[in-house]
Amino acid sequence: MPDPTQLARWVRDARERSLALVADLSPEQLKGPRLAIVNPLHWEIGHVAWFQEFWALRHGRVEKALRADGDALWDSGAIAHETRWDLPLPSIEETKAYMREVRDRLVHRLATAPPSRELHYLALYTVFHEDMHGEAFTYTRQTLAYPPPPTTAGLAPDLAAGPLGGDAEVPGGTFKLGSGTDEPFVFDNEKWAHAVDVAPFAIARAPVTQEQFVAFVEDGGYARRELWSESGWRWRTGVEAAHPVYWRRDAVGWHRRDFDRWVRLEAHRPVIHVSWYEAEAYCAWAGRRLPTEAEWEAAASLEPGPGGRGLSARKRRFPWGDDPPTPQRANLDGRAGGGADVGALAGGDSAFGCRQMIGNVWEWVADDFRPYPGFAPDMYRDYSQPWFGTHKVLRGGCWVTRARLLRNTWRNFYTPDRRDVWAGFRTCRL
Ligand SMILES: [Fe+2]
Repeated sequence: MPDPTQLARWVRDARERSLALVADLSPEQLKGPRLAIVNPLHWEIGHVAWFQEFWALRHGRVEKALRADGDALWDSGAIAHETRWDLPLPSIEETKAYMREVRDRLVHRLATAPPSRELHYLALYTVFHEDMHGEAFTYTRQTLAYPPPPTTAGLAPDLAAGPLGGDAEVPGGTFKLGSGTDEPFVFDNEKWAHAVDVAPFAIARAPVTQEQFVAFVEDGGYARRELWSESGWRWRTGVEAAHPVYWRRDAVGWHRRDFDRWVRLEAHRPVIHVSWYEAEAYCAWAGRRLPTEAEWEAAASLEPGPGGRGLSARKRRFPWGDDPPTPQRANLDGRAGGGADVGALAGGDSAFGCRQMIGNVWEWVADDFRPYPGFAPDMYRDYSQPWFGTHKVLRGGCWVTRARLLRNTWRNFYTPDRRDVWAGFRTCRL
């Protein structure tokens, strides 16, 4: 848990990043087209500030709202998605002034209010909420073919390290899936660690690369009905997918759209922007399968048991141990401006030899997003609960995810048709 000074720094940093992610966009770009998979950025930047005001400044207090119209404009639980383009929003400059005002008030409160666990928790919650929207700002920029977002300060890792083949062998056993109560901050869907059994399994040391995925595409993978589940085939035919959404082929070969420009495929970088259904069909073609959520977490966080047999009781917070991410261990924070080769960042390997389980690309796993036993929603009741059963789980974070948000037990979730998000996958041996 960060101390109040560190927390205030995060509050400022998250807001700065939000502002930087939209600074170069015109009013027309900030409105953007009406699509189910994006929000108008003009609305979304106000929403992150409103969420912070609502929870960290107003929750549990009798305090006047900063703007009389705030709740009517930016409450995502109350304002239907398709209406967000039609709201009487304040101008962009006014919205940015509101964002700064909320930030300054919260920083002031953190510095002057008596220490309070509740304030600390709520402030942190709003920082993480903003971090998640920040990631959405970046995939919105990809969806709408806007220029790449600015990279953040800090040393970028060496991205060109080539491929990484082979499987990590993980022994079976019982372990505790989920977050322990010693974790300082967790979201409701990670609560709490509970015993699960896994049979011995072999999981790829690296995510599936673009080169590997090309082989599936060129082998007619999208046209072969037998490789797709019923719902996968329905999705594929519905959107007429014949390759990943941002790919195209010309006389010289395959290219992918990276924000507003076309680049040659990067053979050894992970395939990204594929739906869960595409991952499932690839696995059927390759004679592999997606890891379960429990297998993914076991491979990321456990060590070999005593005498090299079975699984350790100890769980690592990150694949490499308990220390926080560094640029040598994980590709995060938008530092590198994109994905790294799957062979890069050996310093972040798990005890079983899996690489980049944190950072670079979100990884679809087999499971539906479901509550852990004894689930109870946190005060923000709509964070997880409405999405159980309809979404699939993703693990690990991507190149643009904020490092402070992540740990091995962190669960992300999207519907299986989403291919606009920074998602890829790794596979297990059958
Ligand atoms: Fe939100």
